[in-house]
Amino acid sequence: MDRPILGIESSCDDSAAALVRGREVLASVVVGQGRLHAAFGGVVPEIAARAHAETLDAVVRRALGEAGMDLRGVGAVAVTSGPGLIGGVLAGVMTAKGIAAGTGLPMIGVNHLAGHALTPRLTDGLAFPYLMLLVSGGHCQFLIVRGPDAFTRLGGTIDDAPGEAFDKVARILGLPQPGGPSVEAASADGDPARFAFPRPLLDRPGCDMSFSGLKTAVLRQRDALVAEQGGLWRQDRADLCAGFQRAVRDVLAEKARRALAIYMEDAPGEPAMAVAGGVAANGPLRAALQDVAAAAGARFCAPPLALCTDNAAMIAFAGQELMASGHRSGLDLAARPRWPL
Ligand code: KG4
Ligand code: ZN
Repeated sequence: MDRPILGIESSCDDSAAALVRGREVLASVVVGQGRLHAAFGGVVPEIAARAHAETLDAVVRRALGEAGMDLRGVGAVAVTSGPGLIGGVLAGVMTAKGIAAGTGLPMIGVNHLAGHALTPRLTDGLAFPYLMLLVSGGHCQFLIVRGPDAFTRLGGTIDDAPGEAFDKVARILGLPQPGGPSVEAASADGDPARFAFPRPLLDRPGCDMSFSGLKTAVLRQRDALVAEQGGLWRQDRADLCAGFQRAVRDVLAEKARRALAIYMEDAPGEPAMAVAGGVAANGPLRAALQDVAAAAGARFCAPPLALCTDNAAMIAFAGQELMASGHRSGLDLAARPRWPL
């Protein structure tokens, strides 16, 4: 049987390593840096890069240990070589090169976004082509995934990613980070209709989106309430969160409906729409997307959260798919801060 692929991921604030064989995840270790950045209200690139450089060796060792093997059992090394914070990407690429040079194993550089986009094949065995919505703190785009290195981008955010907007709204309202889960929790007893928030770009054709205006609308509404009543009540927070979340949901659902229609024009036998990224954890959003898929007669697929958010199993799996179609990288593999699909 083929030997498993070692995956390495370090493009943002998670140091991760995994071993994958076929669709089987033998080990997946993710060490987050949340605490290191907490005091700064966001990821500090220099701190992230140092932490990756210090942590990756141990993370790789832990993954090998969990899979009950050493490097001699590995068949190839796959590493995120972009896009992302360049210091972190470099730390991962150097780790992979060290292993490849020391063992003679083949190596493959993987686009982080391709890793996310191919995950539904790992978790659910989806066949090409399928529609993918990537929604996280850093990404937001619709892709038709046609092959391991063949993507058609239908649209994406022209400013903030939705997760970033959730995080900023939480900050504006004094709720804990990461903002997505706290805003979703606060929304539970909120009235989404109390404040009239915009639905940016819905009046324009296509699949592009915008979320930064929504966050500003929440800020203005908060300031107006504070000026009027001297502070924010719990119910105000709940209503602001619910209104904001409803607006994000409406925008993503309508754009998903359009993307699905474009994708289904050259419809495959069994159409499918998948979501990935941290924001895909949002209950009301997930339900709305599921409805959109059902209305179009498409299968809906949302991988488990641990494989939806940043991890190295998706990188190992994408590397495996790329190598199966003949791709290899040399020891001159470059780290790329920007790398659109
Ligand atoms: O995919 P991810 O773990 O990391 C990257 O951005 O690459 O996504 C993290 C983002 C954060 O912005 C977080 O606030 C958001 O996902 N998020 C959510 C929820 N859980 C996490 N957003 C909305 N609702 C949630 N339940
Ligand atoms: Zn990611």
